[in-house]
Amino acid sequence: METTIRPGLEGVVAASTRLSHVDGLAGELIIAGFALEELAQKASFEETIYLLWHDRLPTLPELERFRQELALRRALPQVTVDLLRAAASQQIPVMDALRMAAATLSLDSPVGDDAQTEAKTLVARFPTIVAAYWRLSQALEPIQPDPALGHAANYLYMLTSEQPNAAQVRGLESYLNTVSDHGFNVSTFAARVIISTSTDLTSAIVGAVGALKGPLHGGAPGPALDMVFEIGSADRAESYLRAKLERGERLMGFGHRIYKVRDPRAVVLAAAAAQMYHESGDLALYDLAQSVEEVALRLLEEYKPGRKLQTNVEFYTALLLHGLGMETDLFTPTFAIGRVAGWIAHCFEQQEANRIIRPQSVYHGAKGRRWEEYGSV
Ligand code: ACO
Repeated sequence: METTIRPGLEGVVAASTRLSHVDGLAGELIIAGFALEELAQKASFEETIYLLWHDRLPTLPELERFRQELALRRALPQVTVDLLRAAASQQIPVMDALRMAAATLSLDSPVGDDAQTEAKTLVARFPTIVAAYWRLSQALEPIQPDPALGHAANYLYMLTSEQPNAAQVRGLESYLNTVSDHGFNVSTFAARVIISTSTDLTSAIVGAVGALKGPLHGGAPGPALDMVFEIGSADRAESYLRAKLERGERLMGFGHRIYKVRDPRAVVLAAAAAQMYHESGDLALYDLAQSVEEVALRLLEEYKPGRKLQTNVEFYTALLLHGLGMETDLFTPTFAIGRVAGWIAHCFEQQEANRIIRPQSVYHGAKGRRWEEYGSV
């Protein structure tokens, strides 16, 4: 029987899901029934998490209880803080610290904690890990979480020790909602593969963090913003980008396996970024990024005709998070703080109708080697 191999599993449909629908040709993203454009701007991040996990929005009392349950779980076990302190002394990247620290989160959970409790603990503590590590790596002490603040506001507070304003909180909530789920992306698939073995949630989430940190997945927004800064002014965009493409390099923040039109998340985040930069009164960086995007799209069509390489979520992620005062090293970890909600929802969905995920491979290695010949080589 002839076997067809699909490198990168391109075009392979591995499951059905109620969580999100990605239409790469129409440029449409639906998250648990809502068009991204609506959900991103209206929901608090707690509402989005609840929606993904329960397939409906919470009532007001349910939302209040859910907020409290998350807020009460934010503080880290001492051993996690000790680990972050040791990691900070070696200045390891934030995503590596998040991966290591996430693995410790089951330490203070009673054996047999139900999956919902484990899930809330993971979501609640991701921002605490990132903010604590960030501060430790700057030789600053971590800020204790404030249970009176919502998930997004508390993250900004733990990073800076300052109360964020309403526009900043709305900007971050829109971002976290936007990246909360996205079909069978690599890290989500990794989480589902791991949980399909009937292992624990923490193991699946740690694997997903490892997948997200790669530059072809969640690691692109830092380099995307570096590129805009290196270009510096709109009149340098063409020569800079042309030189990059001539060297065969990829333009970070462009191209996507599924989207062949502009990533709808880029549209939502561009609007959120525009609003935030507008309110700050300084549109210079936003205008420069738009010029860079325009030239990049023209040159990608010239160098890669027919590949339909468009702006992806990472380009405007960079701009939005930078506008929130975050350094580039925080971009991918902040992505993880949003996506962990979707990873967990996918794990729950996988568990509901589990079948171990186990594809096959075609062997193309040597055959007929004999052990006795080994010693005489
Ligand atoms: N810049 C320049 N050329 C590109 C880019 C890019 N950003 N993206 C793809 N191409 C080219 C490739 O070189 C290839 O050209 P070729 O056919 O002449 O060899 C062609 O387009 C197809 O590329 P593939 O790698 O086969 O496409 P794939 O679907 O596997 O890759 C990916 C998608 C990894 C996102 C790719 O577009 C890329 O590397 N982009 C830059 C990194 C980035 O922005 N990643 C974030 C993605 S969003 C997310 O994961 C959250």
